[in-house]
Amino acid sequence: YRRLRVALLGAGAVGSQVADLLLRHGDELADRAGASLELAGIAVRDVDAPRDVELPKELFTTDAESLIVGSDIVIELMGGIEPARGNLLLALNSGADVVTANKALLATHGTELFEAADQVGASVYYEAAAAGAIPIIRPLRDSLAGDRVVRIMGIVNGTTNYILDRMDSEGADFADVLADAQRLGYAEADPTADVEGHDAAQKAAILASLAFHTTVPLDAVHCEGITGITASMIDEARAAGFVIKLLAVCERITVDGAESISVRVYPALVARSHPLASVHGANNAVFVEAEAAGSLMFYGAGAGGVQTASAVLGDVVSAARRHIAGGVGVGESTRANLPIVPIGHVITRY
Ligand code: NDP
Ligand code: HSE
Repeated sequence: YRRLRVALLGAGAVGSQVADLLLRHGDELADRAGASLELAGIAVRDVDAPRDVELPKELFTTDAESLIVGSDIVIELMGGIEPARGNLLLALNSGADVVTANKALLATHGTELFEAADQVGASVYYEAAAAGAIPIIRPLRDSLAGDRVVRIMGIVNGTTNYILDRMDSEGADFADVLADAQRLGYAEADPTADVEGHDAAQKAAILASLAFHTTVPLDAVHCEGITGITASMIDEARAAGFVIKLLAVCERITVDGAESISVRVYPALVARSHPLASVHGANNAVFVEAEAAGSLMFYGAGAGGVQTASAVLGDVVSAARRHIAGGVGVGESTRANLPIVPIGHVITRY
């Protein structure tokens, strides 16, 4: 096999599992990719920091830029905007395809990255950037490209679902469960992004952009988190036959006869008989309604290091296949620039 040099940026909850799987299953992945995937190095802040899994010490470096230059595939799992953005632009401009799980970056600088990739004929893969292990990016971008998506609704943040679920089922304390979510590797480095709904809003912007072939800026997404949800609200909801879930809703709507879209994230009352009420722990579920296909449901682990590593490595195999085929960039679909309608707080019962 031709050898492809793979650079990994970040070895936290997700990155350490990606490195471990890449090293342990390298031969199998090479057969699937048609190329051998050589982990050239792992860039981190602190080479001596403890890792979730044991990894060869000699792979670690703090010099991300030297690692990137000369690599064929760069996997970014650092999170945050900088230096992730600069590193990915450097990777693309150096001829690498890139894989990232960084929804914060994609929701704010996605267009810049996609344009940079298009200019050099490279690709940006980001299956892990929404709903963890669940394949949802490819279905929206590829499988449903011939259909017309009208609505996406679901739970797209694992941390908040884990918190709400344990508050509901055990009467657990918000702060205690959030600490557990951090320990289990579900939460963002700054968990404010989870509990204030920002992480779900970033994912909603990404999913809506793909589904409606437009660019949804993050500030067009109505966003409410779960910090205002109290134990008594959960008890009252239960007594009325509901459970509180943080939902993301992206839909085509008609305003004054013109087609528009609305994208919003907010805690909602979900009937206990609704399938979303059965989404427990850090799982996610996404319902997609399309004109021809009808209703589709995607369900699985929405957060967690090893689960998310599955989606990342799927992207690495795709990137390797494309790289050795000398293919052109996957690109993003044509942007329709639909108007986005701001919708404020909506108490919705499902
Ligand atoms: P962590 O915070 O656990 O790990 C981040 C890693 O990046 C660490 O190894 C850290 O180095 C390294 N890093 C951070 N900043 C720098 C820097 N400036 N220079 C070099 N290295 C740096 O993050 P996660 O693994 O949880 O998440 C990674 C990405 O994946 C994020 O974008 C996140 O949103 C996304 N994601 C996470 C999921 C999850 O369940 N955790 C699920 C889906 C997506 P060091 O270890 O030395 O501090
Ligand atoms: N913090 C995120 C969550 C990780 O809890 O859903 C997965 O994107």
